[in-house]
Amino acid sequence: MANTLDQSVSKRRTFAIISHPDAGKTTITEQLLLYGGIVREAGTVKGKKSGNFAKSDWMEIEQKRGISVTSSVMQFDYQGKRINILDTPGHEDFSEDTYRTLMAVDSAVMVIDAAKGIEAQTKKLFKICKMRGIPIFTFMNKMDRDSRDPMELISQLEDVLGIEGYPMNWPIGSGRVLRGLYDRYNKRVALYRPDENSEKYLPLDDDGNLTVASDLPDDEVYQDAKSNMDLIQEAGNQFDLDKIKSGDQTPVFFGSALANFGVETFLNAYLDFAPEPGEHENTLDDTEVEPDNQEFSGFIFKIQANMNPRHRDRIAFVRVCSGEFDRGMDVVLQRTDKKLRLSNVTEFVANTRENVEKAVAGDIIGLYDTGNFQIGDTIFNGKQAVKFPPLPQFTPELFMRVSAKNVMKQKSFHKGIHQLVQEGAVQLYTTYSTGDYILGAVGQLQFEVFQFRMQNEYNSEVVMEPLGHKTARWIRPDQLDEKMSSSRNILVRDIHDQPLFLFENAFAERWFHDKYPDVELMTKL
Ligand code: G4P
Repeated sequence: MANTLDQSVSKRRTFAIISHPDAGKTTITEQLLLYGGIVREAGTVKGKKSGNFAKSDWMEIEQKRGISVTSSVMQFDYQGKRINILDTPGHEDFSEDTYRTLMAVDSAVMVIDAAKGIEAQTKKLFKICKMRGIPIFTFMNKMDRDSRDPMELISQLEDVLGIEGYPMNWPIGSGRVLRGLYDRYNKRVALYRPDENSEKYLPLDDDGNLTVASDLPDDEVYQDAKSNMDLIQEAGNQFDLDKIKSGDQTPVFFGSALANFGVETFLNAYLDFAPEPGEHENTLDDTEVEPDNQEFSGFIFKIQANMNPRHRDRIAFVRVCSGEFDRGMDVVLQRTDKKLRLSNVTEFVANTRENVEKAVAGDIIGLYDTGNFQIGDTIFNGKQAVKFPPLPQFTPELFMRVSAKNVMKQKSFHKGIHQLVQEGAVQLYTTYSTGDYILGAVGQLQFEVFQFRMQNEYNSEVVMEPLGHKTARWIRPDQLDEKMSSSRNILVRDIHDQPLFLFENAFAERWFHDKYPDVELMTKL
């Protein structure tokens, strides 16, 4: 038994794709699903593009935006591995959920638009992966278009993100002169758009020279790629698996998701190095819960509401950390010490397979929730009580002042706001001076969801006044002085009663620092 569980766990690879909007996350996801036999043609993941992806009766906002919850977790089998891809929405859908999803993966794939380099959202998401110390694999996308100098892209990784890049392949040209990929890992050149009758790959000898005659012109473009590869071989970073595992080095793959060029090679190499599910800390006794431990445990990293007002149910997404999940099993919810039966469950299996295995460490299950769960909750079913570390709170960047439209409906307003905050939908701050409520979020969508749910679930219409971007800085409670508050630096308390300032901008923060040099301003991630 232990053996079969261990075998099942070692097959799991659970990751998220991090990228800036438009870098090609959807396109590469679709290609990966094609390899997994999940979709038959590219262009089917985003409902808005093809309109033929199964729609379920999920959150109305999500439907309007054409995102389907089934794409929140995508599972497929490939080369004996079971792969779970967790979606991290980009665009205006960016939210704390996006960050929290990164708490539930074992590695990340970073997709970068090679013409644009590292962009803002990638930086933010990378920071979370770095904090967790998980392996990150990089795909430099859109090489079928004119790209930046590949050398510059590699140095950007180090300069902007502080991670060493180790190129696994090198582009031979880009855009219209893209000829192929010089693949040092597989010791071959992959040809871009070879003739129908030609080989896709040309083998290289140990010195990196082509061993067969080919039509690949030995011109400046080829020589340039080869000399760059030689230079990197001589003077670049050494391949270091320990550094990859700790997230200090990233293997870099160039390619084109749209042309499906370099994607398969990437997937295969990724599977060679991506980690299987690891252990998780049990904070109750400072031990580690091993993934092949027979007793089931998991934690909730995301709660998604079903916006249908007639059923108020939500789905709690559980990352399985150990044991096997069985439909109908009893678990203990650690926070309340209450027993629950898990009968109403969704497993995120993207295709129908005959022998659906049970969910084990690395897999994600969705529990229909009628208000039992909170973000960060641990559930377990063994004799040994388990509590996983709390999920980090992310510093919001966008703020809204919020009040009830109808002053006679204060009760439902307060109830709704407190429940939604507890659930992790938004963060709540209260001004010291007037006791006003200010909501904080990392993305605009969180406010929209909040407003929608207040109306639909709590029958409370709210008035929202945007305060825009602000920088949150905590101060020590003993340095609190309400006189320091102004419209450019609003003094508020968080839900733990800790004081902080919301600064209008960096200038306001500097001004404050000059005026009150003794007040220590602290960032919290
Ligand atoms: P995202 O999920 O990261 O936001 O990106 P997505 O895959 O939707 O790709 C964004 C656009 O970039 C799409 O253009 C897509 O076809 C294109 N794209 C993705 N990968 C490649 C690539 O390797 N090469 C080239 N040339 N283009 C690529 P689009 O369909 O025109 O959509 P849109 O930009 O109108 O939304």
